[in-house]
Amino acid sequence: MPPGAATGRHVQPRPRHLALQPKALKETPNVTSSLEGRIAVVTGGASGIGEACARDLAARGAQVVVADVDEPRAQAVAFSIPRGVAGRLDVTRPDDIETVADWVEREYGPPAILVTSAGVLQPPLAPEELPIETWDHVVAVDQRGVYLSCVAFGKRMALRGGGAIVNIASVAGLRSLPLHAYAPAKAAVIGMTQALAAEWGRSGVRVNAVAPGFVMTPALRSAVDAGQRDPAALAEASAMDRLVAPEEVARACSFLASDDASAITGITLPVDAGWLVAGSWHGYGGLRPARMGGGRDGGEP
Ligand code: NAI
Repeated sequence: MPPGAATGRHVQPRPRHLALQPKALKETPNVTSSLEGRIAVVTGGASGIGEACARDLAARGAQVVVADVDEPRAQAVAFSIPRGVAGRLDVTRPDDIETVADWVEREYGPPAILVTSAGVLQPPLAPEELPIETWDHVVAVDQRGVYLSCVAFGKRMALRGGGAIVNIASVAGLRSLPLHAYAPAKAAVIGMTQALAAEWGRSGVRVNAVAPGFVMTPALRSAVDAGQRDPAALAEASAMDRLVAPEEVARACSFLASDDASAITGITLPVDAGWLVAGSWHGYGGLRPARMGGGRDGGEP
């Protein structure tokens, strides 16, 4: 028996006659993905996937705080979107995150949405070659930074009784890759997404993650330029034979942050052009070619 059940400390019995109807559906039958009037904070919002999230959330009506360690770039993105605001924060520093959370609430109102996109990639080195300082930094930003951001904003959302967090994980957290700091950190993000969803579910806070495949952002471009990734090989390894656009990840984030996902919490949604489902085909001769135009297995000429 789990400890909570044994002591009764966490499990509150509910009278059987109470209908277990979701309040939101009883009160608002017509849900919409408009985010009008909501305050959204996007860590890592100055570049790549975070920037695309900031733009998509703003386009749906949210007031977006672009929070990033790169302040000039955060300001440039904030100025280019409706109602955008820039804030400087380093997600490895708990004080920075608390300061930004207080400042946003004081100046603009309580955030209803948090997207945690601040992150760094890593070179695919063998463990014998990977400097422990690199390992520490990747884990500090990609794992600890996500946790600290979730706690700072999530505890405030829980006290107010509502909010939605979307963590940017990765397919690297779901499959083995030669990324000995990054991949375990992303697996931890998936784990913390589940645990925090359970933690704050009764307080109206939903916590989900997206797991992007390979997205040609400035971070991936640098890795390609450094000879650490081969975009053609990454595309070929996916079912759809292509990379993912930042906007495609952003749309999934906005969905999970919106009322359209009102009963979804604790999940990790892959946005990977089918990379996760294609890898295991390599032991069976690889993926078959497209059918259009009369491929190996037929199709329209
Ligand atoms: P990016 O480098 O374009 O953007 C990352 C942003 O995070 C930058 O603006 C950077 O200044 C900011 N940042 C870095 N360290 C920070 C810190 N300590 N505090 C605050 N901000 C910080 O990278 P990209 O590709 O957009 O990555 C965003 C997230 O998406 C990361 O978590 C990454 O792991 C994840 N991801 C990226 C994939 C890709 O193929 N590009 C695939 C799967 C996941």
